[in-house]
Amino acid sequence: MTFRFRHLLASAALAALVAASPASAKTFRIAVGDGPGGTQEELGKAFIAALEEKSGGAHSGKLFLSGQLGDEQATVNDAAMGTLDMSILAINNVTPFSPTVGVLTLPYVILSVDEAEAITQGEIGQELVDNTVRDAGVRIIGWAYSGFRVLTNSKQPVETVDDLQGLVIRVPPNEIMIETYRSWGVDPTPLPWNETFTALQMKVVDGQDNPYMTNYAMKFDEVQSHITNIRSIFSIEPLVVSEQVFQGLSPDEQQMVLDAGKEATTHSGQFLREKESEIAATLAERGMKIVEPADGEAEFIERATTAVWPKFYDSVGGVEQVNKVLAALGRDPVE
Ligand code: MLT
Repeated sequence: MTFRFRHLLASAALAALVAASPASAKTFRIAVGDGPGGTQEELGKAFIAALEEKSGGAHSGKLFLSGQLGDEQATVNDAAMGTLDMSILAINNVTPFSPTVGVLTLPYVILSVDEAEAITQGEIGQELVDNTVRDAGVRIIGWAYSGFRVLTNSKQPVETVDDLQGLVIRVPPNEIMIETYRSWGVDPTPLPWNETFTALQMKVVDGQDNPYMTNYAMKFDEVQSHITNIRSIFSIEPLVVSEQVFQGLSPDEQQMVLDAGKEATTHSGQFLREKESEIAATLAERGMKIVEPADGEAEFIERATTAVWPKFYDSVGGVEQVNKVLAALGRDPVE
């Protein structure tokens, strides 16, 4: 074998090795708003496992829990600018950047995990993904399903709208959620997510709402004693990737990321179904007192749907968009 031929063979082998080796191997930095043990972490872990498997270990991710990389709303900006790869956060904290996803936070629209899955994984979900790329510079690649945002407080059992009066309630900086409490006669206090535990602990606010899974992950049982099973918002929590980062990936890598997100989404629905009642029981064992709203929640529902929905038709894409969601869920349209 001539030197030249050996040299050519060696170069070809090196080129093949470079192509096959993880030269662009990447460990995505993933911000997570909640603490350990909740649906956000579970989605993140499932995504990383699926991505590692699909990429033969070339690509992975690292979760930064409990808002270590900043408040949830701030992570949307960071990802849009490309200084953060990914974030897992509540959809209500995406709405200020991508108003049409607000349709998922309108009170009493999504009434079960089955409905949450049907909407987010169907045609409407894809439209919301596209709108969010356009409006916020981030792409939703997976969805966590976290359950209804139950109301917690440190002062008294709340069964009626009347019982709520006088309580200082924290809400995310989200107009739909602010207006929902206003419809119940309360002027709530908007606070970023990463300030909420301290505000409850210092009694700057008396209460807040979040799903059982989130209340557990955030250890809210240490600072809250009452739960009311309101069902106004079913919490949906997307995994988003910076669109800049996504566009920097090869088509194969993009597909792996999308497929891993899909698998993690399927896992999230199963996780919620398996774990939610166990977590609710754990919170009760830790001393939280759980009550149902009076009269099947009728007054909460009536006030919120009549006062809040019309205010947000424009921002979520028109009354037609709300009716499209209702039709997809087999419900009657609104005028
Ligand atoms: C919030 O209340 O700001 C969020 O829904 C919390 C979360 O991401 O779990």
